[in-house]
Amino acid sequence: MCDFAEMQASETAIDPPGAPGLVRRDVLVLSGAAALAVTTPASMGRAAISATPTATESTSTAAVRLIVNGREVSIEVDPRRSLLDVLRETLNLTGTKKGCNQGACGACTILLNGRRIVSCLTLAAMHDGAEIETIEGLEKNGELHPLQSAFIEHDGLQCGFCTPGQIMSAVGCIAEGHASSPDDIRFWMSGNICRCGAYPGIVAAIADAAKRT
Ligand code: FES
Ligand code: FES
Repeated sequence: MCDFAEMQASETAIDPPGAPGLVRRDVLVLSGAAALAVTTPASMGRAAISATPTATESTSTAAVRLIVNGREVSIEVDPRRSLLDVLRETLNLTGTKKGCNQGACGACTILLNGRRIVSCLTLAAMHDGAEIETIEGLEKNGELHPLQSAFIEHDGLQCGFCTPGQIMSAVGCIAEGHASSPDDIRFWMSGNICRCGAYPGIVAAIADAAKRT
């Protein structure tokens, strides 16, 4: 299930054209620009090098206000940090997983303003004022979300590492109307890789939850 064609499909399925997140080719362009920014001062001599921040130093922060799982948070972030890292390391929302950190596995899927995106490919500083939903926000008043219950009932997981991303992507998949058949679900969930191969249970769980919601 995790061949190259599916990874290509993941860009479309998780971050369709017009979505606010970045796709891998955007990040490659930005990475190239960042590499130039780091390497150019090195050609300017020792004085220039000593005055240039290292790759791990930040010269500024950005004020960002987010509404995360219904709660407003205001934070200062390094403008180079991904939304995934800010969620996990600043807000301690570690339910969202870091798998590949390059947009290929879907483990970091969240909802951003109601649309599913891979949070490793976008910068937190780009989303001031955004509404974010993570796996931690699905349970309401002690009740599991129908998708969470369905994943348990249909054995839609083994190790569980991919499961938060699978479930958040499934929330988006159902909301988009892309869960009308097992084939439909397989296609529109193709950006979420499960290394344990729990796909039959995942598809069954999403189909079941789609009927209940
Ligand atoms: S797609 Fe973001 S961690 Fe793999
Ligand atoms: S349950 Fe192990 S990677 Fe999906």
